[in-house]
Amino acid sequence: MGRKKSATAVAKDESASSGVGLLVFTTVVGVGAGVGLYFWNRLKRRKASPQSRRCSKGVAMTHEQLDVLEGYKSKCTMSKDQLNALVDDFLRRMNEGLRSEGQMLKQLPSYVERMPNGEEAGEFLAIDLGGTNVRVVKVVLEDRKVKEVVAHEDAIPKALMRGTTKGLFDFIAKQVKLFMARHSARPTASGTKVPIGFTFSYPMKQTGIKNGELICWTKGFDIKDTLGKDLVGLLEASMREQEVEGEVFAILNDTVGTLAASRFADQDTQLGVILGTGSNAAYIESKGNISKLSAGGSDGGRMIVNIEWGNFKSDHLPYLAEDREIDEGTPNRGSQHYEKMISGMYLGEMARRACLRASREANLFGGTQRRRLEKPWSFPTSLVSEIDGLGSGRLPQVKKALSKALDILEASVSDGCAHFVTEVCRLIGDRSATLAAAGVAAIYRYLTQSGQVALDQRFVVAVDGGLFEHYPRYKDRMDKTFGDLLGGQAKRVELVHSPDGSGIGSAVIAAAAATSR
Ligand code: GLC
Repeated sequence: MGRKKSATAVAKDESASSGVGLLVFTTVVGVGAGVGLYFWNRLKRRKASPQSRRCSKGVAMTHEQLDVLEGYKSKCTMSKDQLNALVDDFLRRMNEGLRSEGQMLKQLPSYVERMPNGEEAGEFLAIDLGGTNVRVVKVVLEDRKVKEVVAHEDAIPKALMRGTTKGLFDFIAKQVKLFMARHSARPTASGTKVPIGFTFSYPMKQTGIKNGELICWTKGFDIKDTLGKDLVGLLEASMREQEVEGEVFAILNDTVGTLAASRFADQDTQLGVILGTGSNAAYIESKGNISKLSAGGSDGGRMIVNIEWGNFKSDHLPYLAEDREIDEGTPNRGSQHYEKMISGMYLGEMARRACLRASREANLFGGTQRRRLEKPWSFPTSLVSEIDGLGSGRLPQVKKALSKALDILEASVSDGCAHFVTEVCRLIGDRSATLAAAGVAAIYRYLTQSGQVALDQRFVVAVDGGLFEHYPRYKDRMDKTFGDLLGGQAKRVELVHSPDGSGIGSAVIAAAAATSR
């Protein structure tokens, strides 16, 4: 009985179920029609894409091109929260590196313990092995001034970067010999040798001011048999073979040299930064905080520490698909993520890959032109810098620059295409400067929080390197990020270009080492 339903109840059930049926039907038809319409519109948009355009800063571009551009914009632009999270991560990694070996931030002791004070004097040679060149510099320090700087640089042949240790060091010794002959840099007294500071701009483990062993290569170098070798010993052996009368008094990183050179002239310098082929920073640390120093950490003194910040990684970094692709193709895959997003060596390749993606996904360049873009490393960083400097207001010049540098037909570069490339270059430049500034801000926070730098003190940051020197508005972009991260304290942070800092610093440090013998 209880299971039987009354006629009214059945009628109600029937009308309810037919009501539900109607609802389901309408919903299915409605959703179906909606989905259909969506795909129809997409299809229409795709078919009509060359004509179907929207505008970006007054330049007509296809929907696909704008979508790709918007994608880059949203990935490259960092919120204040993201920047702060990045800075927190950086601080944590700095502390880890001070405690033990083999950390992400290596925090390498330089054994430069006597900070330059302007008293250093004499004539020195600096040998500066950078990412692309070997520079030999004669530096004369006198009366608290850098009285003379004579420099000569030669490009390091690509083959030597992946050849043998002996090949590389013989090449360096040959450059020194030629320089000495050209610029009559000779020992001042018989039986003495020209004092040399050796700027070696790669991660090295030091146990004293005069010794260093290579930990790993960066910036495209890949010479297996140099790892763990005594670098000063290698240089002196090659110099002996070529009868170069020089003696190495100090070996140092370029960031350490840049800091020392600026400190020679300005005692408020706290940081040396390189923004060039590679990127890195060094700062002055209380030895008591370098707990991994086995001995001598407790005398209350200070020492310059080379952070090797290029190897920083964090989930808060604004990664693009291009970053991973670039990393895959480098000999130091998996390392130096931060450097690969900031430094001059990689910015052109990033722009090339972004253009290639837009050309595949949004028909940016024509088919023939695309083939030009397919050649790895064919887009020089100087072009990114030039195009970013021109900006979207000067598209005809952008087209000229693109066509000249990439050997493509100027007429085939549309306004939309030139605008896209300009915007991508700007984003790449912005991201590089923002990240470099975040690193500086992190070190500033570390030093003020640990009480090593007072809040009302000038915080001079000496910077050397082609990216900082030549990339348009790089300093302004960094200053903007200091404002975002440090608020009112940003006015304490002064970025100062320190031209030839690594060479002059090498001489200053060699001078200090020579007098303390
Ligand atoms: C790379 C090197 C580092 C150097 C920097 C700038 O990051 O590993 O030692 O200071 O390039 O030249």
